[in-house]
Amino acid sequence: MQTPASPRPRVLSGMRPTGALHLGHYHGAIKNWVRLQDSHEGFYFVADWHALTTQRPAPGELNRAVYDMVTDWLAAGLDPERSTLFIQSRMPEHAELFTLLAMCTPSSWLARMPSYKDQVAADPELATYGFLGYPLLQAADILLYKPAGVPVGEDQAAHVEVTREVARRFNRLYAPDAPVFVEPQALLTETARVPGLDGQKMSKSAGNAIAMRDAPEVTAEKLRTMPTDPQRVRRSDAGEPTRCPVWPLHQIYTDDATRAACAEGCRTATQGCLDCKQPLIEAVQREQAPWRERAAALDPQQVRWIVEVGTERARAVARKTLREVRELMGLVA
Ligand code: TRP
Ligand code: SF4
Repeated sequence: MQTPASPRPRVLSGMRPTGALHLGHYHGAIKNWVRLQDSHEGFYFVADWHALTTQRPAPGELNRAVYDMVTDWLAAGLDPERSTLFIQSRMPEHAELFTLLAMCTPSSWLARMPSYKDQVAADPELATYGFLGYPLLQAADILLYKPAGVPVGEDQAAHVEVTREVARRFNRLYAPDAPVFVEPQALLTETARVPGLDGQKMSKSAGNAIAMRDAPEVTAEKLRTMPTDPQRVRRSDAGEPTRCPVWPLHQIYTDDATRAACAEGCRTATQGCLDCKQPLIEAVQREQAPWRERAAALDPQQVRWIVEVGTERARAVARKTLREVRELMGLVA
């Protein structure tokens, strides 16, 4: 049992606002955030400034994406009683720490990040000061809250690593005797990569996603029309599950017995693809049902209020850290 005398270790993570989330987001991140609530104090925020480093959204679009995403977090089971949910752009404290950390972070650390170099090579318009600073803003997001862990996917490991370096350098330069920043651990989520409807990585922009809150008939239709083993042209042709883009979804969603029956039916052409897909369709719909119910029970005003409360809770922590940093840097009010 957790008691107030044994505070749960803190974890913090952020996500760029992509609007309605899909199954890849759920299995790749959110499921883990929800699980962590049992053992950790969670701080989860919408990284809307980070979104602006690579996009120029139409008026109103970003705001809608922010609240759609928070609604999906709540639908998935993030509990505002146990986790603090907030929005980065409502926290000028993140910008202030970013500015202060910039004074002792070598620009070469940022210029050499693979995420920066590769994307700028592919799209020169991304060569902005803001995009260069992306990992440093992320370091500020993290260090303000002194979390023990940062649950992220493999693709963010380098950003957590640079955060640790920034913390170490600041501590050495300004607080050699009593370090102010904690070097956080990356809590790498080892989760199945959810394939999209075309077998590629699931992503909204690729148009191959099943949204968390797709209606049951939409989910069914998307899966029914999903391509299968390209060599199984007719129902009477034998197929091979390992060649079939549907198969990795089966591996995430159905049990061993169902899968064994499907594989057998496929290889002997005794079962058609629609029969094979049916238990998968039902399993995905079963997973989605509680999300749709929770979201339907939330009114938009309530979601705003949850974010309001979370933002103020986050601010109390952030201000305390900033006071320490300002003082260490000689900025006495
Ligand atoms: N860069 C992260 C992503 O694209 C989002 C992010 C911003 C983040 N700030 C963070 C993640 C702080 C963890 C901690 O997914
Ligand atoms: Fe794929 Fe199943 Fe069809 Fe075989 S029967 S090709 S595994 S959908």
